Amino acid sequence: MKIETIDSTPYNDQKPGTSGLRKKVKVFQQRHYLENFVQSVFDCLDDCNGKTLVLGGDGRYFNRQAIQIIIKIAAANGFSCLIIGQSGLLSTPAASHIIRKNQAYGGLILSASHNPGGADEDFGIKYNISNGGPAPENYTDAVFKHSQTITQYKLADIPDVDLETIADVQLENLQIRIIDPVSDYAELMASIFDFELLKNSLSSGKISLVFDAMHAITGPYAKRILEDILGAKAGSVINGTPLEDFGGGHPDPNLVYAKELAELMFSDHAPTFGAASDGDGDRNMIVGANFFVTPSDSLAILAANATLIPAYKNGLSGVARSMPTSQAVDRVASALNLPCFETPTGWKFFGNLLDADKITLCGEESFGTGSNHVREKDGLWAVLFWLNLIAKKEQSVAEIVQEHWQKFGRDIYSRHDYDAVDSTIANGIFDHLRALLPTLEGQSFGEYTVSYADEFSYTDSIDGSVSSQQGMRIGFANGSRMVFRLSGTGTVGATLRIYIERFEPDASKHGQDAQQALAQLIELAEQFCQVKQLTGRVAPTVIT
Ligand code: G1P
Ligand code: ZN
Repeated sequence: MKIETIDSTPYNDQKPGTSGLRKKVKVFQQRHYLENFVQSVFDCLDDCNGKTLVLGGDGRYFNRQAIQIIIKIAAANGFSCLIIGQSGLLSTPAASHIIRKNQAYGGLILSASHNPGGADEDFGIKYNISNGGPAPENYTDAVFKHSQTITQYKLADIPDVDLETIADVQLENLQIRIIDPVSDYAELMASIFDFELLKNSLSSGKISLVFDAMHAITGPYAKRILEDILGAKAGSVINGTPLEDFGGGHPDPNLVYAKELAELMFSDHAPTFGAASDGDGDRNMIVGANFFVTPSDSLAILAANATLIPAYKNGLSGVARSMPTSQAVDRVASALNLPCFETPTGWKFFGNLLDADKITLCGEESFGTGSNHVREKDGLWAVLFWLNLIAKKEQSVAEIVQEHWQKFGRDIYSRHDYDAVDSTIANGIFDHLRALLPTLEGQSFGEYTVSYADEFSYTDSIDGSVSSQQGMRIGFANGSRMVFRLSGTGTVGATLRIYIERFEPDASKHGQDAQQALAQLIELAEQFCQVKQLTGRVAPTVIT
């Protein structure tokens, strides 16, 4: 195989964020941009020679071209086996599973998750390590550093690979395996959940469901598993064909962007169960007939009921949530006497805890839930978990949630996002908050007395690594909390996220609307950060 060395010049903006490097497609299409980053990833690995690499993406615009380029760079860097999803497709959780199942050295996942796709939209790339999870920060920092000085990359002189045909192809000493992206993952799901029970409930119509794949990666996975294997009515999966631009939509499963599903679920002909997933299949939104499940509650409910699921019947070793996720799961952990960890935002922080079996389940408020079956959050897994619970408990989604609140109390929760804020204003807000925090402790604002105010810093209990500046938190004596963070996944300006929660033990007040119940805290958050005043906005871009 002829290997060329191509001279290049470095870019200074290849810093991976919360989940890999995300930029506009046009940025990735700049000369040598993708090549530099991929070569930097490989240069920062010990030795790629003779190793296996998994490759696939969410099918967005530029996915196929990027895969052909990466194949040539990977071949030139000595990998001996590339496992690639047919048509270049792999959901993020499926990629994680395939890395683990094949004991691959790692994988490159091409996705910008929930960000829109298309020639003028976003693209992304992320390296996952041999445990199937996102590379830790010390590695992504090293890649960023290297990318700023890189002067050349290697390219194998081989023809483009046929990505459409499932086959094993040998190119001299390189094996290229084009695999069915769904079958291994479907098998894994069957090993976790009670598929017999699910088949009975779904094929008989006892449980009716609609799954919105949002024209993204989970279409083929959901059709195979929910319709073909479990017998849900044909058409239960909507928007099921992955499109390069997600049909012009925003593949983020929330009530704003999954509009078609939201309208159906809040109508008088709603099915028992509704769900949606995002661009790369790791997020989930769960909705019952006329009932929305907050992701933080979902995590707590899965933890509380886990022993009803075959794979978790012997109980959990522990649970974890990202810092801004509500404290609902903490209450379950304390009732079950389980360790509960609080990590910074981003799935990479769960990896060590899962590997060390300190936790079995984990999740984030941003529609992410998962377990030790892979090292990514997993949208369809959460959907199957809920379906399995509904079938087993013979209760509706609303009944399951309300019963949970009665037992543990309700952590009323909401997140307000201000997108595309001018970066100077956003930085000013955080400088101001950083100065304000030390003055707040002990101060009272109406019924809210500040019991702590700090900037979250995390020390990994397994490898001792420290991640600082992970968001500002203000906790109140009555258990309420607010958190301010800047997004690490946005590609335009800064996205300011404000997370607000209040604990309500009184069951007679559990039916409240979250925005109303949190109104005072929302006002207080504005008083502290002044985002509306400084940006002239009247409302958040998205409320979840
Ligand atoms: C967002 C979410 C975070 C999630 C990440 C990747 O990151 O808030 O929980 O892990 O997307 O899906 P952020 O933009 O807030 O940095
Ligand atoms: Zn995602």
